[in-house]
Amino acid sequence: MNTKKHTITAALPYANGALHLGHLAGAYLPADIYARFLRLQGKDVVFVCGSDEHGAAITIRAKQEGRTPQDIIDTYHNLNKETFERLGISFDQYDRTSNPLHHKTAQDFFKKLVEKGDEFEVKESEQYYDEAFDQFLADRYIIGTCPKCGHKEAYGDQCESCGTTLSPTELIEPRSTMSGKKPVLRKTKHWYFRLDKHGEWLKGWVNNGTVDGKKLHDPATWKAHVIGQCNSWLEKKVNKETGEESGGLLPRAITRDLTWGIPVPVEGGEGKVLYVWFDAPIGYISATKQWALENNKDWESYWKGDDVELVHFIGKDNIVFHCIVFPAMLHAHGDYALPKAVPANQFLNLEGRKFSKSKGWVIEQHEYLKDFEAFPNKEDALRYALIRTLPENKDGDFKWDEFVALHDNELVANLGNLVNRVINLTQNYYQGEVPAADASIRIKDVEEGTTTTLGEATKVLLTKVELLEACILKYEFKNGIQALMDISAYANVLLQRNEPWKVWKGAPDSDLVKGIMNLSVQIATILSVASQPFLPFTSAKLRNLLALEPLQAGDFEVLKEVLRDGGDLISAGHKINPPELLFAKINDRKDKSRLALIDLQKEKLEVLKKKMAAAKAQEEKEPEAIKKACTFDDFTKIDFRVGTITAAEKIKKAKKLLKLTIDLGFETRTVVSGIALHYEPEAIIGQQVTLVANLAPREMMGIESQGMVLMAENKEGKLIFVGPQELAINGGAIR
Ligand code: 2FM
Ligand code: ZN
Repeated sequence: MNTKKHTITAALPYANGALHLGHLAGAYLPADIYARFLRLQGKDVVFVCGSDEHGAAITIRAKQEGRTPQDIIDTYHNLNKETFERLGISFDQYDRTSNPLHHKTAQDFFKKLVEKGDEFEVKESEQYYDEAFDQFLADRYIIGTCPKCGHKEAYGDQCESCGTTLSPTELIEPRSTMSGKKPVLRKTKHWYFRLDKHGEWLKGWVNNGTVDGKKLHDPATWKAHVIGQCNSWLEKKVNKETGEESGGLLPRAITRDLTWGIPVPVEGGEGKVLYVWFDAPIGYISATKQWALENNKDWESYWKGDDVELVHFIGKDNIVFHCIVFPAMLHAHGDYALPKAVPANQFLNLEGRKFSKSKGWVIEQHEYLKDFEAFPNKEDALRYALIRTLPENKDGDFKWDEFVALHDNELVANLGNLVNRVINLTQNYYQGEVPAADASIRIKDVEEGTTTTLGEATKVLLTKVELLEACILKYEFKNGIQALMDISAYANVLLQRNEPWKVWKGAPDSDLVKGIMNLSVQIATILSVASQPFLPFTSAKLRNLLALEPLQAGDFEVLKEVLRDGGDLISAGHKINPPELLFAKINDRKDKSRLALIDLQKEKLEVLKKKMAAAKAQEEKEPEAIKKACTFDDFTKIDFRVGTITAAEKIKKAKKLLKLTIDLGFETRTVVSGIALHYEPEAIIGQQVTLVANLAPREMMGIESQGMVLMAENKEGKLIFVGPQELAINGGAIR
């Protein structure tokens, strides 16, 4: 009996925001394809994920929004969980790290390492402290200038501009994100995980797949960029001139002086929590425990022993934690199996640029689903486009035009077309009943001038199906979907060569027509199984069209067995359902509504591009030179007053100007202001402004302008009002 247990994990996303298409392509979609496929093979699978609810990013966001961390994580946990479900990501358990079971699991794990005696060293070190807020600052709470690239907003753990990993003390001009002030260094005590002790065996494990002479994985199945990144962490570098060594694994602090997180459960740990990257991967274990509890399973058999095949799906930014830190934790703890593979993906870009939430250059999963609500094939259209551009070994790029082309020219033109032909012709010729056909029936083969038999074609199909299987098991999902489309293309070519529609007209009882139609229905059935890991919605629809039962665990093995035996996947006489379109084209000549959805997305990006270009130009602009000094007397000559705009209108033939009426309390002024390109008149009624009230009146476009409104410029080059922060008295002097 096969006792292997397959534990598949996908990176626990932080519950402080919605996820975008880059996340989906990076980890969740590949993990889902793999999990679905293994289930179809009849393997014993648990596929876990969940919300990572600790970490400073969540508390920072909560603080910025004046909400509690709990409120934030509840919002995004629910949103992300639901969105994954809608996209067909088939987690067995989507848990959360605020689950008490997780807290206990992580604390027990920590205590076990403490008991080992030499896995931690407890050290005092100097860390940044915010005196105004009376607290130590987590790395994320400190920003400053990146020593590598000069980016001014680099975090204490990483510069998001150049990607360099940093420690807070490397930042130039550090400041606290809490008070904005320069933090001071203070002594504090922390638990450091002795990663340095694990370097040697990790090197052997990553590069040869062996630990203590035992073969645990085949490094040939590991991606070159994953092994490369691991080695850059593992290898010591020697300075050729000084002979000095640097790099290699060092003890790493895994506790923090914070209140949000899992309390450090040992003496001296009061007021401290476990570092988020210590508890998050243990979240995979706790999620499995929770699932086991709810499903009457034995969680340990999915994590411990030689029968476990643990695979982590992640993006490349998580490699060090999954290939070095977590394996070292598992090994130090003992009992646990090490991951068999970590098929990390590179990053997906959007129209040639990095996804950036702060710049708005992003397509969030739930936004996509909302915007494409009216598009019936939205889930698999997205899955297909993403799988075809998966950043498996190098960064990928998601482009809207390509999305349309992949859908219309591949999914619809190849798979959709085949299914429509098969279903329609079977209806027309045989009233929907699969015709009987003998394996010896000869038909034209794909090569011009050659022939084959149904039996031989079945053998060809078996090799194609096996190729698809091999690709998935090597984590080559792009090749896998190619193999799927190749099966469909094969059937299309056979139909085209044999032209049953021509033969049938003269000979409706022809064996050739029966043969090619029987084979085509068999292929449609193969596709209904083989497409399921990639395109679960399409697969279900296709099963329904073919009037077949929903798929069950192990059906892929059944499929191969039947093909091997040359039997029928769908028997003669089986009645399929009436035709229904599998997909509708996006770029439909008659119905432009779906294309309009795409155009809207493209327009959104165009607007953003302009904004981003303006922001960049603004950043690069030479600072304006300070004007020549004026005396205090000069300055006091200017009379600044608070006023409220009570009316605003456009001025004919002056695109840039607005005529404003400003209430000063004791009198009303008319002012001509150059803000028409930045504001609609009706949007600024009620706005309090700063008026230069004693500026000599001046005529503009035939209107006497009685003063000037002060404006500043924002990052995008838009003019914004400079007025009191709270409601002030109209007419009041500003000094
Ligand atoms: O990068 C992230 O989004 C992390 N929350 C991933 C954690 S993966 C695992 F360790 F849980
Ligand atoms: Zn940098």
